[in-house]
Amino acid sequence: MLTIVGILHRRSVNAMAARLLLLASVLCSTLLISTSSSTSDLQILAADRNIDLTSHIVRVYLTLKVENSGAAPVSEVLLAFSPTEARQLALVKAAIPIGKKKKKYQPLDVNPTDRPDAPNGTKYYIMSLLKPLNKGETITIETHYIMTHSLEPFPVEISQSESQLVYYRDSAIVLSPYPIKQQVTLLKTPSNKVESFTRMEPTSHAGTQLKYGPYEDRAPFSYSPIMVHFENNNPFAVIEELVREIEISHWGSIQITEHYKLLHGGARQKGGFSRVDYQNQPAFNGLSSFKHLHAELPPRVHSVYYRDEIGNISSSRLRISSKKSDLVVLPRYPLFGGWKSTFVIGYGVPLQDFLFESADGSRYLNYTFGCAFVDTIVDKLIDKVVLPEGSTDASAIFSFSAEQRLEKKYSYLDVVGRTVLVLEKRNVVPEHNIPFQVHYNFKQAYMLAEPLMLISVFLLFFVTCIAYLHIDFSISK
Ligand SMILES: *[C@@H]1O[C@H](CO)[C@@H](O)[C@H](O)[C@H]1NC(C)=O
Ligand SMILES: *[C@@H]1O[C@H](CO)[C@@H](O)[C@H](O)[C@H]1NC(C)=O
Repeated sequence: MLTIVGILHRRSVNAMAARLLLLASVLCSTLLISTSSSTSDLQILAADRNIDLTSHIVRVYLTLKVENSGAAPVSEVLLAFSPTEARQLALVKAAIPIGKKKKKYQPLDVNPTDRPDAPNGTKYYIMSLLKPLNKGETITIETHYIMTHSLEPFPVEISQSESQLVYYRDSAIVLSPYPIKQQVTLLKTPSNKVESFTRMEPTSHAGTQLKYGPYEDRAPFSYSPIMVHFENNNPFAVIEELVREIEISHWGSIQITEHYKLLHGGARQKGGFSRVDYQNQPAFNGLSSFKHLHAELPPRVHSVYYRDEIGNISSSRLRISSKKSDLVVLPRYPLFGGWKSTFVIGYGVPLQDFLFESADGSRYLNYTFGCAFVDTIVDKLIDKVVLPEGSTDASAIFSFSAEQRLEKKYSYLDVVGRTVLVLEKRNVVPEHNIPFQVHYNFKQAYMLAEPLMLISVFLLFFVTCIAYLHIDFSISK
């Protein structure tokens, strides 16, 4: 008994973790190989994977050279993700490079799919080829996927003067329902400081790059967990909720109001915060904190404001150019891990920049989805497009998956209420900042409703006044 305790004491926690990982890896590999695929006779001749870990959004570029080694033509290729990865996925894209010199890309349709035969909860995305791949033919597919919340701060708590370290977990072998003849994985870290990483020979580390492979002839569903522990002092700006209201007024302007719930999603701040140290030694203090946030707004914005619960915050800078407007927002205090900030940003943009008339006479708004802040994750984004009173047949066109519903809103002088088209999406990354359109019909007569109402109210008031002045209330003559 005593010896066991001794051994336990001597063995570092790290070594234990490594052993557990190894055990898990062996278990996983055997489990997965035994349930080999029955999908098709595709095989991957080469898989090149680049994993960009330089920000808190993990971006993976995977190039697959696929060969059809069976007899029947194949028109679908599957991408596989572990259940954890599937939960963290924000975006999956695939394209086929065309043209030799100038690289052009033909995008492919990529859709999630449920396959009950998928082993160990593997989630598939189907990439639909433009034309079937015949026997013996090969095709190169470039895929790109983005994951959020997949860097885990460790230690979980750091003091103001410490650097932030994070874990990234993945598999050294690309998870795939097809056999892979040759593969290499490169990981790029933000700095040279890599505390530790799982080795799976051949593995090498130089500067900011970690290389796994080349590995040859891996069976379908091979999986070999790896863990990389490295420094990442990027601001982990997570917007837990963003509610954006885009209100169209046919009187010349679109008013945008954005309500932010911002969280620093990195390692939690331990101990007190010293502003003196923070300001005097910026090189050693609050490396992972953020003092300001940078937003890209449309060109020609006007009446920009930025406020929180206390009131107007004047410490923001705005630079307007012909292509975009840069807004730098400085919260009242620097944000450390686990700290939150709630604020509102509002601005107006000219109507003619975003509202157009389509061929059939209906109107449409063409506006950018997503969050204006650079390099942030939005856990839940709600875009509310408030149409002018009297609008009918509202519908949205967007090229990403989002929930859509209609609501009503009443503001000053509204009689029948305004139609609000609501788009809701979880796990939004900067790559989702793409245009969407809201179409609606509007009767010109409604433009006059509000002025007419005001005019009649004033008219009534004056008529009453005049009548009052002319009526003689006196009793005696
Ligand atoms: C808020 O502060 C900005 C200066 O950054 C100023 O231009 C704006 O007028 C202020 N708004 C209010 C309502 O005080
Ligand atoms: C919407 O605007 C973008 C530029 O902001 C433009 O590229 C796109 O063609 C527009 N879409 C429509 C349907 O007008």
